[in-house]
Amino acid sequence: MIRKMTFSLMALAIALVLPGCDKSTKTGEEYSSSSAAESMLRERVKFNDDWRFFKYEAGDTVDKLIYDVRPSAEEHQDDKAADAMPTEAVALQANQAALKPYVLPTANRFIASPEDRHIRPQGNPGSEFPFVKQLFDDSDWQAVTLPHDWAIEGPFYEGWEAPVGGGMGRLPSPGVGWYRKSFDVPISDAGKSVFLDIDGAMSYSIVWLNGKLVGGWPYGYASYRLNLTPYLKAGESNQLAIRLDNPPASSRWYPGGGLYRNVWLTKTNAVHVGQWGTQVTTPQVSKEKATIDFSVTIENDLKESVAITAKTSLYALDEAGSKAGTVVASFAPLSATVAPSQSEVLSASLSLDKPRLWGPLPTQTPNRYLAVTTLEQDGKAIDQYETRFGIRALKFDGTKGVLVNGEPIYIQGANQHHDLGALGAAFNVRAAERQLEILREMGTNAIRMAHNPPARELLELTDRMGFLVVDEIFDVWERKKTPLDFHLIFPEWSEPDTRAFIRRDRNHPSVIMWSIGNEVGEQYTGDAGAVVAQRLQSIVKEEDPTRPTAASMNFAKPDMPLSGVTDTISLNYQGEGIRNAPAYAHLQGIRTSPLYPAFHQKFPEKLILSSENAAAVSSRGEYFFPVAEGISAPIADGAGGDPNSAHVSAYELYTAPFGSSADKVLGSLALHPYVGGGFVWSGWDYLGEPTPYYSARSSYFGVIDLAGFKKDRFYLYQAHWRPELPMAHILPHWNWPDRVGKVTPVHVFTSGDEAELFLNGESLGRKKKAEYTYRLRWDNVIYQPGKLDVVAYKDGQPWAQKSVETTDKAQTLTVVPDRSEIRTDGEDLAFVTVRVVDEKGRTIPNAKHTLTFTLEGPGEIVATDNGDPTDLVSFTSHERKAFNGLALVIIKAHSSSAHAGSAEAKNKGRLKLTVMSPDLKGSSAEISLKP
Ligand code: GAL
Repeated sequence: MIRKMTFSLMALAIALVLPGCDKSTKTGEEYSSSSAAESMLRERVKFNDDWRFFKYEAGDTVDKLIYDVRPSAEEHQDDKAADAMPTEAVALQANQAALKPYVLPTANRFIASPEDRHIRPQGNPGSEFPFVKQLFDDSDWQAVTLPHDWAIEGPFYEGWEAPVGGGMGRLPSPGVGWYRKSFDVPISDAGKSVFLDIDGAMSYSIVWLNGKLVGGWPYGYASYRLNLTPYLKAGESNQLAIRLDNPPASSRWYPGGGLYRNVWLTKTNAVHVGQWGTQVTTPQVSKEKATIDFSVTIENDLKESVAITAKTSLYALDEAGSKAGTVVASFAPLSATVAPSQSEVLSASLSLDKPRLWGPLPTQTPNRYLAVTTLEQDGKAIDQYETRFGIRALKFDGTKGVLVNGEPIYIQGANQHHDLGALGAAFNVRAAERQLEILREMGTNAIRMAHNPPARELLELTDRMGFLVVDEIFDVWERKKTPLDFHLIFPEWSEPDTRAFIRRDRNHPSVIMWSIGNEVGEQYTGDAGAVVAQRLQSIVKEEDPTRPTAASMNFAKPDMPLSGVTDTISLNYQGEGIRNAPAYAHLQGIRTSPLYPAFHQKFPEKLILSSENAAAVSSRGEYFFPVAEGISAPIADGAGGDPNSAHVSAYELYTAPFGSSADKVLGSLALHPYVGGGFVWSGWDYLGEPTPYYSARSSYFGVIDLAGFKKDRFYLYQAHWRPELPMAHILPHWNWPDRVGKVTPVHVFTSGDEAELFLNGESLGRKKKAEYTYRLRWDNVIYQPGKLDVVAYKDGQPWAQKSVETTDKAQTLTVVPDRSEIRTDGEDLAFVTVRVVDEKGRTIPNAKHTLTFTLEGPGEIVATDNGDPTDLVSFTSHERKAFNGLALVIIKAHSSSAHAGSAEAKNKGRLKLTVMSPDLKGSSAEISLKP
């Protein structure tokens, strides 16, 4: 089967000769490193080193090379409730020249209708501005390596008048910054097509090469490609200059700033596979046989037609993602004549016997395949492109939930923002992998990418680690949540952003669903809002007809127009009811009874997921008294919250005003078994949105704190999500010298069904979990120091034990890296946990000692943290207080290539971290290095 499609290439590339293969070094479009033979045909190199960076400071006069004129952000309220109604865009009369007309054409490949595409005006704005010029001396700019988040070092802004408040993380992410890089292009590259691939630039990036404006892309979470070819000087040094402009009040969380994801330089022959130019789908899948449909887009940047043959073979990938063994199947060769400056899409299909299916852990295995596509002209290979994919069957059912390969997979999901805590937005594979590992330990099997396209490598991780993913693109459409958020560019960019997002992510087997929006203001605008949703939905279907759509609703009811548009029903907080429990009766705002039944009744065939639930809050290790009596209570000063310390009780009963405790959420999901599961808000704490205390820097919502330490809630979820794991967890800690003789409730989370609690050997009674409850509580315990023991039972048999003891005074430190060995690739990280302990090695649960960190050996301390949302000490500081007994040090080894031959390199093999504290015995740990 061969199908053809033609559309015109908007960007004209100049290519006079078709060169043969050169000695290029790199891999295909995706992630694997492939064999030498394959890598001769296209070169794709990380373009992360040797950048120079400059950012205007507050008060500087900023250049006028703006993308567009923006409304003012003055009326911004930093701590606006997350469920406040989004408002209408402000109409604006632009009276200043802007570069938008020169940037818009970058979107053309992602705009379906030719008449909607943009024509670049004459001229070359910015060419006279010094920063874009080759001869500009940038030697006093900061030398940086990408991924680079320009704001994460801080310092944190303090106080209520700060230019950036708690909502965006109190860090200097807004502002205008420039990146410059010069690079040599060998003469042998003349005639090649050369592309700059930016995985993420926050935000409004505009790119000049050799003084010529090439293009740009405003949405900071988008990945995009620029064709550098027309502006490139082969045989010479070339100069890139990138301007980024991060508006204030543009986000409800910390966006980061700068070139915060990988940047690549891709060189191909003039005839090549296009950007994200393959699509693999698996329309029929069984254990015996799978049908695999494949298409490839071939671009011809020449001025003459070429006859091309595309040959694609499939290989199995091993667990690590490397090609394993020989070809398992090949598509019939596809041929086409591609007209000059045109592209052709060729499709084929095959049937594979006994496919190794991709499926989520723990019940299935995330097996993957690699499609290697070779383009040939006159029998000679001219391009090779790799596509990773998985073979799996997805079904979405109104009563059975999500089925993967026929097996119902109950969604035990977590919402995750894009930042990596103390590392900020700068993407790092190991940091993301660690987030997923800790979520997995809790029993999480699915991630919702809240509320924007993730780093590409994160989807590579979810593919490899067998998580299911709801891939989400927008938090706002036409109506705004903050004055300068994405709504400003939605009219022109929503189509290209949506198409680019899907083309980029469509071959990832972990992605099961496309979410086109989160709690958008169009929920409130009736038919008009539904029209916007319908337009996005149609775009998604054109790009990928195989996956269902979703749009998360915290307001729209079953009979409102928006609710019916998407293929599935995604409910934020409404499923279990909003502000409906007695403890919430006094609150203003959206109030609904549990809406699962009403949605199920109206849309019986549609899958319902709880796309966001809980929004419970806590500070790890902080406990306040008295403790709420019910199972869920809104956080307030004196009721779970301490306005002086800006901490929130970790009894894990308190929530945002619209939220519900984990107990209430899980009970409600259990009562509505047709719901396919849900995603807790949030898996990890994240920078910004510190509800309820906006004096802080980071959220209280995480089940896991910003540093990766588990809050008590972790064990509530683990007990429920991993029922086969014998475990019991006691809260609070048992160091309460001021509470002797006072009521101090003790709560237990266990995967057992019953438990007996003992205080200093004396039984406080055995309790059984009632149906739809998720904790055992002994609310009348009178505190005495000593030891709490819990013995949990399952089906009447002993199942798990746990104790918590009053500790002695702090004496020393323990220093434990997450891995004993890391790579010297300049990217790998060690996450070292420091504990303040007594002489018996017991963690002091309220220790806040000041710690200092020193590292010996060829590496550096990248960041430190403690998970305390109120800690405004810069993440790069080598001195930090422990927060409730714990601190984290993030270490990286210097790249071995950068130090080859140096004294440092000879010394290599180990890093040694020493942690000291004035009144404690210091301690250290070593980490080995491997190339
Ligand atoms: C939701 C929103 C999330 C987050 C959460 C907690 O309404 O979708 O992005 O803000 O509330 O505040």
